Amino acid sequence: MTAMDDAFPLSGKRVLVTGAARRIGRGIALALAAEGARVAIHYSSSRNEAAETAAECRRLSGHEPLLVHARLDQVAQIAAMFETIRSAWNGLDALVNNAARFTRRNVFDITEADWDEVHNVNLKAAFFCAQHAARLMRAEGVPGRIVNMSSLGGLQAWAEHVHYNASKAGVIHMTRALAKAFAPDITVNSVAPGFIPFEERDYSQTSEGAVSRTPVQRAGRVEEVADAVLFFLRSANYITGQTLAVDGGLSIR
Ligand SMILES: NC(=O)c1ccc[n+]([C@@H]2O[C@H](COP(=O)([O-])OP(=O)(O)OC[C@H]3O[C@@H](n4cnc5c(N)ncnc54)[C@H](OP(=O)(O)O)[C@@H]3O)[C@@H](O)[C@H]2O)c1
Repeated sequence: MTAMDDAFPLSGKRVLVTGAARRIGRGIALALAAEGARVAIHYSSSRNEAAETAAECRRLSGHEPLLVHARLDQVAQIAAMFETIRSAWNGLDALVNNAARFTRRNVFDITEADWDEVHNVNLKAAFFCAQHAARLMRAEGVPGRIVNMSSLGGLQAWAEHVHYNASKAGVIHMTRALAKAFAPDITVNSVAPGFIPFEERDYSQTSEGAVSRTPVQRAGRVEEVADAVLFFLRSANYITGQTLAVDGGLSIR
């Protein structure tokens, strides 16, 4: 057994979480901080929420979090974000590609801009963040971990989310290809959340149906998604290229 085969204790590890100011990304950042990880909190528009998440991470971990801003639909800004991380931390141990766009459109109304908005963040940015992260990991010669947030929408077909479905199915297959490309030192896995509601977003058209169709008859919690992310981050390199649905059984066919 070599160091690269070992489990990956999170204490002291340098982990970038994209879209970490709010909601699921915030929950992942807090769970990492509670394990003693050093967290880089990426945000785009949610500057105040990012600062609050950073304060909470500092309290939980005792480490000073790194706050990084980038419009992830612009690859040049992704490169600049990783340069900030390199100069602050001199490397990176793990990446959680969490940031995403989710929109509902009638299939005949989807424009090129709608398609690009979703794919640029959900798929293109996830790829370029993984590429930059892996370069940092390889440059330092340390084992690495990448977790991509996919979705139930990458496993199921939804008539009013064709563009989102395509992007998240892409994330799942990209996870498999990257797992081969980055083996053996860097694992790449994916978590596919089911229905994780938040008060501030109106899920009224889907929530009732989603819960009643869910075998366990309830919506999911942020902590349950974060647990799955931390499972992949902590695991030895024998688990790679996998997607774990955290969906109360909704994706079972
Ligand atoms: N919530 C669910 O039920 C559910 C279900 C299935 C899958 N998921 C997946 O789980 C992950 C987290 O879900 P969520 O609902 O917490 O996500 P979310 O709130 O919709 O988005 C997370 C963050 O992504 C960032 N983001 C969006 N566009 C960006 C851009 N162009 N550049 C930079 N950042 C951008 C935003 O950061 P700022 O706020 O800073 O702008 C946002 O806060 C996503 O990958 C999502 O697809 C969620």
